[in-house]
Amino acid sequence: MEKQRNAILTMDDGRTVELPILSGTLGPDVVDIRNLSKLGVFTYDPAFFATASCTSKITFIDGDAGLLYYRGYPIEQLAEKSDFLEVSYLLLNGELPTAAQKAEFVAKVKDHTMVHEQLARFRRDAHPMAVMIGVVGALSAFYHDSLDINSPEDREISAIRLIAKVPTIAAMAHKYHTGMPFMYPKNKFGYVENFLYMMFATPADENDTPNPLLVRALERILILHADHEQNASTSTMRLAGSSGASPFACIASGIASLWGPAHGGANEAALKMLEEIGDVSRVPEYVQGVKDKKYKLMGFGHRVYKNMDPRANVMRETCYEVLKELNLENDKLFALAMELEKTALRDPYFIERKLYPNVDFYSGIVLRALGIPMNMFTVMFAVARTIGWISQWSEMIGDEDHKIGRPRQLYQGAVKRDFPAKR
Ligand code: CMC
Repeated sequence: MEKQRNAILTMDDGRTVELPILSGTLGPDVVDIRNLSKLGVFTYDPAFFATASCTSKITFIDGDAGLLYYRGYPIEQLAEKSDFLEVSYLLLNGELPTAAQKAEFVAKVKDHTMVHEQLARFRRDAHPMAVMIGVVGALSAFYHDSLDINSPEDREISAIRLIAKVPTIAAMAHKYHTGMPFMYPKNKFGYVENFLYMMFATPADENDTPNPLLVRALERILILHADHEQNASTSTMRLAGSSGASPFACIASGIASLWGPAHGGANEAALKMLEEIGDVSRVPEYVQGVKDKKYKLMGFGHRVYKNMDPRANVMRETCYEVLKELNLENDKLFALAMELEKTALRDPYFIERKLYPNVDFYSGIVLRALGIPMNMFTVMFAVARTIGWISQWSEMIGDEDHKIGRPRQLYQGAVKRDFPAKR
């Protein structure tokens, strides 16, 4: 057995405590600080810059080397060789499926694509992300027959329901927003094909089969966004789930966190930014505004990647392919994005801060070329990330040692004082 390594912390009053050093299979060692409670002190790390919040076997990122693995498989290989449901099976179960396992998984997902007819009634002008938060959370009201989170079978059926129904809900949100009739899922289509069918087909269409190029491009986008370790929405979802809440409510909490422009909302914000810049000639002026801290360059920077985001490379390639195939090679916003990237990557402000394009710098351009409306961009991210969230949720609940998450704080408010006798 390997000898336990420890870090020794000495306080300024001479008291010491031994803190075990833990090693993962990859990545830096972590210092287990739980013994600090013996000294009556906590750690202070407000935005989790140096704190691992859990153990996980699902996704690994090396931000300096620009690596992203799902269950050990590099993202580039999965984007090239796999499909979204296979990646979903991998994330959920830990191994790639055999042909029989895959067929069974795909059939199960197909079996659950419909949603209760009473589920989605919202204001027509609601942002589709608002509808997603509400409707996905409301699934707990309709599928309460299998909400014993301590039962592996119930957890599995909830996972399948979420993977199957979230695209249906996303397409419903879009159709509702635009006043178009809902298109019910069709089992003759594959997962991504069916999603595009529900999004864009109408009952009047003669040919309702989605373009295979668009299917492949969206498949890739979904794979690239499927999981990303302990990011803001996954951590939100884990914290919500740590209390034993319903998986549907937990995923709704993940969607809520994803919506912000610093996270999943960045794809919508990045495209809005490109539209606002409008012309290549305005790039230097816009970059100067970023350096003057008037605004941020959306789709740039990452808490973990400080060299490159491997997803951005695949997305840039996909961008070329899709625009070429659709004869949009001279697309103005793409040319603008390329110029902006080139200008920023040469500038000391971005070099010193290690700011590189992230996945969302290019995903908005691809989504727009696929005909996805801008207010649905972050919904696409949510559809993809649902498998990551539910895999992480399942891992957490299945871990016998898991406990309710409960951060401590560094209190800086008023010290004790008495309520005034007279006011
Ligand atoms: N544009 C301009 N300056 C930036 C940017 C940016 N996009 N991102 C960071 N900086 C600067 C920041 O102002 C700070 O400068 P200084 O040291 O002078 O104060 C420095 O770089 C360090 O930034 P930070 O805010 O400490 O970095 P963070 O790790 O807290 O933030 C981030 C990470 C992704 C929230 C941030 O880079 C950002 O807001 N980017 C734009 C939004 C975006 O594209 N988000 C999508 C992330 S990828 C998709 C996902 O996984 O959600």
